[in-house]
Amino acid sequence: MADWSAQFAAESQRILELLFSYMPKIAAERNLNNLLMLMANMGRSIVQADRCSLWLVDEEKKELWTKVAHGVDELRIPLTAGFVGYSVSTREPLLIADAYKDPRFDRRSDEKTNYHTTSVMTVPLFDSEGKVMGVFQAINKVTEEKVFSEDDLNHLALTAVYSAKTVESARLTSELEATQREIIHILGEASEYRSQETGDHIQRVSEISYQLAKWMGLPEEDADRIRLATPMHDLGKIGIPDAVLNKPGRLTDIEFGVMKSHSIIGEEMLNASKRKLLRFAAVIAGSHHERWDGKGYPRGLKGEDIPLAARICAVADVLDALSSPRCYKEPWPEDRVREEFVKQRGLQFQPELVDVLLEHWDEIYAPYRIR
Ligand code: C2E
Ligand code: SIN
Ligand code: SIN
Ligand code: FE
Ligand code: FE
Repeated sequence: MADWSAQFAAESQRILELLFSYMPKIAAERNLNNLLMLMANMGRSIVQADRCSLWLVDEEKKELWTKVAHGVDELRIPLTAGFVGYSVSTREPLLIADAYKDPRFDRRSDEKTNYHTTSVMTVPLFDSEGKVMGVFQAINKVTEEKVFSEDDLNHLALTAVYSAKTVESARLTSELEATQREIIHILGEASEYRSQETGDHIQRVSEISYQLAKWMGLPEEDADRIRLATPMHDLGKIGIPDAVLNKPGRLTDIEFGVMKSHSIIGEEMLNASKRKLLRFAAVIAGSHHERWDGKGYPRGLKGEDIPLAARICAVADVLDALSSPRCYKEPWPEDRVREEFVKQRGLQFQPELVDVLLEHWDEIYAPYRIR
């Protein structure tokens, strides 16, 4: 008895150590394929199997798929095939001593990979709604006894619970990020849809803002947020009547008053969101027409009271506005654009921003020269 409990303690210790060594790696990994590999390796070490795979259900194709170590491709099998398929349809784990004596065994995998399966365990993975999202499979116990035990099955089941949560949250994260990027893209397009401008304007303002941010010494992460948020700076223009937005000539004072409301409209639309990135975009939309000298709109903010991202966006926006055709003006020649920035240094724009712009002028202006 004493012997048994000592062995039990040693086994628990071994498993705990494995978990502790894998968990930080798994927590830090964001790529789904790498996650699957990490968890398969963890499962293999925990139950001491020769092979271990984490299969995921592909609802659309009615298949299960897994990543193979070092393999370029993934492995796919029908949703109902073999032991793995059995665990999907019955929601039950399996503990098999000799695969070839079991009618549920699908020999094709062995034939394809030139392998001999003997002992097998499969455990279903459930998502938070209780649906089977995949199966953990371990093949061929590598220790003397050659077969998996009930304990091994329990350990694999525990690993499966942890893996299911990990995969689900990884999917949720990438789903959210993808959704967010898509919304931002759509919003950006919507804001210029009604103005007679090329689709490149938003892209250029975003790209130039990113470069300015980097040159101002902002860390990559902040510069990237600026790149993602600046496409929405003119979102409020979707609230401006056509007659004003696309008027061929100069705006009257009243019309310009209407036009100016686009910055507050955009700010309020974006502030309706709880998402951090959209609220950051709200700040840019609301302040991209403020001026360094305090004579801008809508609030007449001055100097560093204007959020840095909005100061950056203002430079990029005006550079693009002057260098491109607008419904109310022809593009300006390069020298005139450059002189305008020199003239507006410390008036419309923060001096340091104009300095980095002029310092990198050739690089920034190159895309306009080839048009
Ligand atoms: P936009 O065409 O994208 O212009 C963006 C900003 O570029 C302008 O914001 C202004 O800050 C800057 N900008 C344009 N021309 C000059 C210039 O000659 N010198 C300097 N330093 N900056 C210049 P603003 O003025 O608040 O205008 C906002 C938007 O209102 C413009 O966006 C445009 O859609 C519209 N808009 C402005 N003036 C007119 C106009 O005379 N006619 C028409 N149809 N629309 C106008
Ligand atoms: C314009 O009125 O043509 C553009 C606005 C500006 O010059 O600041
Ligand atoms: C824009 O700045 O995105 C649109 C300007 C315009 O109305 O032509
Ligand atoms: Fe604007
Ligand atoms: Fe703009």
